[in-house]
Amino acid sequence: MRSPDLPAPREPGRYVVGLVCLGNICRSPMAEVVLRDRVEQAGLASYVVVDSCGTAGWHTGKPMDPRSAATLRRAGLDPSRHRAQQLSAAWFADHDLLLAMDEQNLADARALAPDAAAAARVRLFRDLDPDPDGRGGEVPDPYYGGDSGFEEVLRMVERTSDALVTALREVLDAS
Ligand code: 4NP
Repeated sequence: MRSPDLPAPREPGRYVVGLVCLGNICRSPMAEVVLRDRVEQAGLASYVVVDSCGTAGWHTGKPMDPRSAATLRRAGLDPSRHRAQQLSAAWFADHDLLLAMDEQNLADARALAPDAAAAARVRLFRDLDPDPDGRGGEVPDPYYGGDSGFEEVLRMVERTSDALVTALREVLDAS
């Protein structure tokens, strides 16, 4: 399968990706830790920078939700370094691509974009989902649900991160 096109990097050979959800304590921190792990495994750690934020600032400075952290630990990943950040207009100057977990996050992030070109650098994370049934869908908010919601988020994030790394390699090779 051909990877979906990603925006070209602003600087050849370097790509900065931000993952965006609402609170930056459940979904986007899981995506950040998983994607960074996959980037490292692919040997792209010198070229790809990954971070995350929330459109809301309620949890700024806090670690990830304990249920997200436990889910990552079960997958052998370290959640301990995360501290929540809030999306601001400055993120558009610092990032090549912002990937939103759901449609509301996408709309809220685009509303902060300084211009149409910046808004076009915000996409849905699951536009990269290799599962054709899930592609273009949302990563559902697990905050108010049970532990199974966090496991479901992990599975979506793992397979989408694998596809995203392939797409990142292609766009970096072409830069
Ligand atoms: P997240 O989940 O957007 O995946 O981090 C949520 C975290 C906190 C809240 C809602 C969703 N909250 O209402 O505080």
